[in-house]
Amino acid sequence: MKYYITTPIYYPSGKPHIGHCYTNIVSDTIARWHKLLGDDVFLQTGTDEHGQKIERVAEKEGITPKQFVDKLVPEFKKLAKLYSMEYDNFLRTTDKKHEKYCQEVLQKVYDNGDIYKGKYEGWYCVDCETYYNEKDLEDGCCPIHKRKVEWFEEESYFFKMSKYAKKVEKYIKDNNYIIPKQRQTFLLKRMKDGIKDLCISREKVKWGIPLPFDKKHVAYVWFDALLNYPSGVDKTKYWPAAAHVTSHDIMWHHSVIWLSMLYAAGIKPPKKLVVHGFINAEGGVKMSKSIGNVIDPFELAKTYPTDSIRYFLLREIPFGHDGTFSINALNQRHNNELMNDLGNLQSRTITMIEKYFNGKIPRTNKNELFKKLNFKKINNHMLNYELHNALNEIWKFINECNKYINDNKPWELAKNNTKKLEIILYNLAESLRVISILIEPFMPNTAKTIKQQLGLKKKETFKDIKFGLLGNNKVKKSGYLFTKIEGEKKMNKETQVISTPEAGHYIPFKEWEKMQIRVGKVKKAEKHPDADKLYVLLVDMGKGENPRQIVSGLKDDYKLKDLVGKKIVVFTNLQPTKIRGIESNGMLLAAEFKKKVSLLQPDQDIETGAKIC
Ligand code: MSP
Repeated sequence: MKYYITTPIYYPSGKPHIGHCYTNIVSDTIARWHKLLGDDVFLQTGTDEHGQKIERVAEKEGITPKQFVDKLVPEFKKLAKLYSMEYDNFLRTTDKKHEKYCQEVLQKVYDNGDIYKGKYEGWYCVDCETYYNEKDLEDGCCPIHKRKVEWFEEESYFFKMSKYAKKVEKYIKDNNYIIPKQRQTFLLKRMKDGIKDLCISREKVKWGIPLPFDKKHVAYVWFDALLNYPSGVDKTKYWPAAAHVTSHDIMWHHSVIWLSMLYAAGIKPPKKLVVHGFINAEGGVKMSKSIGNVIDPFELAKTYPTDSIRYFLLREIPFGHDGTFSINALNQRHNNELMNDLGNLQSRTITMIEKYFNGKIPRTNKNELFKKLNFKKINNHMLNYELHNALNEIWKFINECNKYINDNKPWELAKNNTKKLEIILYNLAESLRVISILIEPFMPNTAKTIKQQLGLKKKETFKDIKFGLLGNNKVKKSGYLFTKIEGEKKMNKETQVISTPEAGHYIPFKEWEKMQIRVGKVKKAEKHPDADKLYVLLVDMGKGENPRQIVSGLKDDYKLKDLVGKKIVVFTNLQPTKIRGIESNGMLLAAEFKKKVSLLQPDQDIETGAKIC
């Protein structure tokens, strides 16, 4: 099966950040999964180089837009390589081939009578290069970038997008075009507000592709950019695309605008729009250069192996949801799940084969572990784009393997039961081989090391997930898969400042007023089933309100029984999120001093639910 998958093409207006990196990782993982299924995969990424945003930043630097993008594009390629992204094409919208294709499509849509001349008057956000209706603005700001939008009026060409609204809506519904479902519901609701024709040319902007039918105008940058998807591939072979991966900030462009354009140009629509969440900085706040909380993936990779970062992002953030980037959580997952669970399984198995069998894997046909592996379930998660669930399931198997070692105690069998020892070690080596196939899409370098240590040379696919393929290979231990990282102590300077606001950055009073903070009373406290340091609390918020569930990191400082009955202070209108798979709806306020956490507590006689003002 052909499987054409794309990332958005990024604006090279600054260095790439962790958000771009996340989209790359998601797309690369899905692409690799399909390769292992035997599909003919093509992965395209690239850069969106025209438009006012780039024109302005270049002007500030006193260079041409082309000189500006030429300096930044290599950073995007470097990032992809650093994080082991295996793309098949890197498209730049300044490539001549793309420009030509874009003009051909514009001409075709014009000839079909779907483009007409008019005058645009309205709001525009240069950061996302998007037109906004007054009612969609938040305090006069772009709802995505939170910066002031600009008014512009000029003669422009319009694309008859409204004409395609019904058809687009039907396509989205009939094909479940947008994944996950909630995002689709949200988009369809927004479509109900009405679809207007789209302004698709700019006269005042010079940096763009000239309209073939009126060279005084350049194409609206989104019209140009979206066409990268068909323009970069052999269309006879790979079009329509199987999946466009983006975040929800550009979901509208990839559904309403894109599908209308394709209908107008007589091109088949893509199959799926796979929408992932946003990565926010610690505290759930948007990453932004002005706050100084942007995570630099190049810096991060100086401390953590890129495979650990890939794993962390894919496992920590339930696919489709927004997530918080926390160095502590990354550190925990690296040390616990990668170093302890996977690393120890590998290291114990190889060491024992070396020690008890001179490095030669013993053979047996007694299959004891594979029944614990549910590949079908894992594959279904992947085909439904639930990457976190797939990893969760793979880890269940890894933990079963560790349990198998602990239950069978091979070091004791070594004293008197070689037959049984052979069975145990062959089963473990076989399981590791299969684990290396399963984790390859998520952690390609780690998978390679496991294979090398098992003495495997042949490239394997999911067809090789069956028992008994491993011969009497000679294992060779070449160091540990992962080594312990000492949390914040080892972090270099740049990574440490991740969530420190710039000096002098104040929150306007209006923003503070939006926060709702109230008194709650802990009704119930339990251990988090999937995290060592977390509790799950049920907090009573007063009359007429359901108690809310809050996940909290209090384990080192409070005993469960001491929490029940306590009056505490809760930040109640924080966006709910899942923490290690458990929904958390609110945040407890606490002070931290010398690594000890102390809950803020009002006097006991204050009423539950009272507002903090
Ligand atoms: N150039 C347009 C896309 C055109 S595609 C035809 C654009 N570029 S962008 O550089 O702003 O990249 C937006 C995309 O980058 C998001 O949709 C998402 O894939 C990724 N991310 C950027 N910031 C992000 C986060 N903080 N978190 C997760 N991904 C985000 O829009």
